[in-house]
Amino acid sequence: MDYFIKSIVSLLKEKTDLREDEIEKRIEIPPVLKMGDYAFPCYTLSKILKKPPNSIAEELTKILHPVSPITGIRAIGPYVNFFVDRSIFSERALKKIHEEKDSYGSDDTGSGKTIVIDYSSPNIAKHLAVHHLRSAVIGNAIYHIYKALGYSCVGINHLGDWGTQFGQLIVAYRRWGDESTRKTYTVTDLNSLYVKFHQEAEKNPALEDEAREWFKKLEAGDPEARTLWQHFKDISLKEFQKLYDMLEVHFDAYIGESFYNTMVEDTIRRIKEKGLAKISEEALIVDLEPYNMPPCLLRKKDDATLYATRDIAAAEYRMRTYNFDKMTYVVGSEQKLHFKQIFKVLELMGYDWASRCVHIDFGLMKFKDGKMSTRKGKVVLLEDLLIEAIERIRKIIEEKNPLLEDKDAVAKEVGIGAIIFADLSTKRNKDIVFDWDTVLNFEGETGPYVQYTHARLCSILRKYNQPVTGEVNYELLKEDETFRLIKNLWQFPSVIQRAAESYEPSLLCNYLIDVCGNLNRFYNTYRVLSDVEELTKARVFLVDATRQVIKNGLNIIGIHSPDRM
Ligand code: ARG
Repeated sequence: MDYFIKSIVSLLKEKTDLREDEIEKRIEIPPVLKMGDYAFPCYTLSKILKKPPNSIAEELTKILHPVSPITGIRAIGPYVNFFVDRSIFSERALKKIHEEKDSYGSDDTGSGKTIVIDYSSPNIAKHLAVHHLRSAVIGNAIYHIYKALGYSCVGINHLGDWGTQFGQLIVAYRRWGDESTRKTYTVTDLNSLYVKFHQEAEKNPALEDEAREWFKKLEAGDPEARTLWQHFKDISLKEFQKLYDMLEVHFDAYIGESFYNTMVEDTIRRIKEKGLAKISEEALIVDLEPYNMPPCLLRKKDDATLYATRDIAAAEYRMRTYNFDKMTYVVGSEQKLHFKQIFKVLELMGYDWASRCVHIDFGLMKFKDGKMSTRKGKVVLLEDLLIEAIERIRKIIEEKNPLLEDKDAVAKEVGIGAIIFADLSTKRNKDIVFDWDTVLNFEGETGPYVQYTHARLCSILRKYNQPVTGEVNYELLKEDETFRLIKNLWQFPSVIQRAAESYEPSLLCNYLIDVCGNLNRFYNTYRVLSDVEELTKARVFLVDATRQVIKNGLNIIGIHSPDRM
């Protein structure tokens, strides 16, 4: 528990009948500095004692006596507000950041626990779509947020590499594929084969039967079918990997839907044994009508198993393999119903861990600038998006800082960072409208702005050019603008906690924007490097701590922090 909150909790515990954890979880940070540093709302006590919260706040204030590090206690409306000793606070906060460095913000609350995170999970033989990018970026951030809390994280790419569409692709490839150029096939070629298949199948419906036959062969392990399928998979993975490398998104395992092919029969047997399965219109289903949901389809009339069946088998497999405490799926909101259905089936199968499965849903990314969607009809090629971001940033750097060394490397870190930040900074279940001018603006609430603030702090430290030490006079860091920043830095660990609890990386983005805003207010009000040595030392120490927190924050959400921009 935060040292200062702890002091407040022990003061309040003496004078109320509330438990420590009840007090702790209610403590808030007042919106403005002059109201105090922490506040305790009296609504709960008001219910227990049957008195208005305002009078409780006043009575409590009378009987509570401040002890260091608390210097003042005041009732404001229904709140008891606490003021801390600013120099004690600053010393504690800044020294902690200075000592913990890259690990400031992390703790071990999750040690011994495992979280499985299923993210990106694109479909083979198709281009990575925008929602797979969003999923990759959000999933990667959640991975690092949980890692920072000491969890053991398992990142899984649940590739869509199974299903009747592979029968269609095999038919198309065998009929119209060009054997001689096989080796150079790309995902775009595979896509064209799909399109061709559907055009031809309209004229000649027998092709659909042929495709079903080939998928059956594939499910049965026919060597030709397997070889072609593996070939499609290799082509796709090569393209996906290029994007994951650019984004620096990593997976512990690529375990696609095909992997569960041999397990689905057992899964279906268990579902049947529980009396959950029934035949409806020749298909095998779990009736979910009592739960106001459409049925969960397990097997079609042609015997082919389905997405949902494989997800249920995958969940059982993951429990057996990782014995997880939580299992999360970072998948767009359009699949809400799918996950509600499979979680319900798992629950009905008697798995208590079904309640520990979470669908981390997210909204759409739309493009304001129609230009991005021209090259391949409506498809936004993500590689183009990332490359364009890098090129645009490269131009801005050329204008702003033509003498910068390593321009290409910095443009890459900032360009990619801009896309990641744009993706993460909106609450995840909201839709995003992607607009280049907003995303790349060095002065807006963007990745480049945060990175630029970080680089400016590095530049101050380069100018100072002396070792930074914590042996400074903390009495000199008491001004409001200065103290507001220090308090903000102290919040970092709790922001990570909250981001984890709500699976919401946007909290970290908002936090970083706040830190940059507070830093700029401090920096615009006071001179950091001056002739007054003692003062310079203290302010430099704060600058270094701010740099560290911004770096750690960006790092957790998967963004680099270049020293120069
Ligand atoms: N392949 C699916 C799609 O592109 C996403 C899979 C998400 N993960 C899962 N376990 N269902 O829509």
